[in-house]
Amino acid sequence: MSFEGKKVLITGASKGVGQTLAESFLNLGAVVFGIARDISTCPVHPMGSFESVDLANCSAIEAYCEKITDIDVIVNNAGISFAKKIDTISLEEWQTVMAINLTAPFYIIKCLKGKINAGGSIINVSSIAGRNKSIVAGVHYTASKAGLIGLTRQLAHELGPQGIRVNCVCPSQTLTPMLAKAMSPADMEKLAATIPLRRLANVEDVVEPIIYLASDNCKYINGAVIDINGGQI
Ligand SMILES: NC(=O)c1ccc[n+]([C@@H]2O[C@H](COP(=O)([O-])OP(=O)(O)OC[C@H]3O[C@@H](n4cnc5c(N)ncnc54)[C@H](OP(=O)(O)O)[C@@H]3O)[C@@H](O)[C@H]2O)c1
Repeated sequence: MSFEGKKVLITGASKGVGQTLAESFLNLGAVVFGIARDISTCPVHPMGSFESVDLANCSAIEAYCEKITDIDVIVNNAGISFAKKIDTISLEEWQTVMAINLTAPFYIIKCLKGKINAGGSIINVSSIAGRNKSIVAGVHYTASKAGLIGLTRQLAHELGPQGIRVNCVCPSQTLTPMLAKAMSPADMEKLAATIPLRRLANVEDVVEPIIYLASDNCKYINGAVIDINGGQI
């Protein structure tokens, strides 16, 4: 598979899934534009261009998108999560989670819609939480990830006539810095024993289906919600 000559935008390219995704697209020949707040851990590569943008700030998103001339693939990967019950979730925290996990993907697509090349592909990174419920994160996270599924299906319908595909992936617990903050190694081991494939996901398990969805190998997959969960639901 080659992405020679393709331009790929990845949010959350500094850690976890997004960092490996950026490295993988670069290795496949793409020009990669990446966003995170701290870009010091983004891949260093002549075809990679990484910029510090706070996705909670729509003016910053707009200014960033204005600089992009055209794009082939957008991966809305960045996300935040807090393990909290509703009683301890403030309105401000609810709004922050919604801003980064749901509003930012909406606004990036809105700002770049007219610059997506024919045959373009958008992949939104939702979660098993959005498909079902979360065993670690709070209701703000679950609601934002369910919203991302709705955003995906609606935009697949709206942008399909322009030849732009919009899909989403719903990973389960994946070994990244996000999960390390939310679960102890002992809890991870207990959970793994309940998963049909008897292990948590590693980043490659999530990255590979995203690359497939971005590729010309799945030209007729549009509006799909792809579970990556080892058989959990
Ligand atoms: N790990 C899991 O178990 C799991 C399970 C299901 C779904 N997911 C989803 O998969 C995606 C990737 O998760 P991950 O585990 O790789 O997360 P991660 O390790 O915490 O990395 C998150 C990335 O998002 C960036 N980010 C966070 N807030 C940002 C902001 N305000 N502005 C710009 N960038 C921001 C982070 O960079 P900075 O901190 O430098 O800004 C980082 O690059 C997320 O959408 C997550 O919800 C993860």
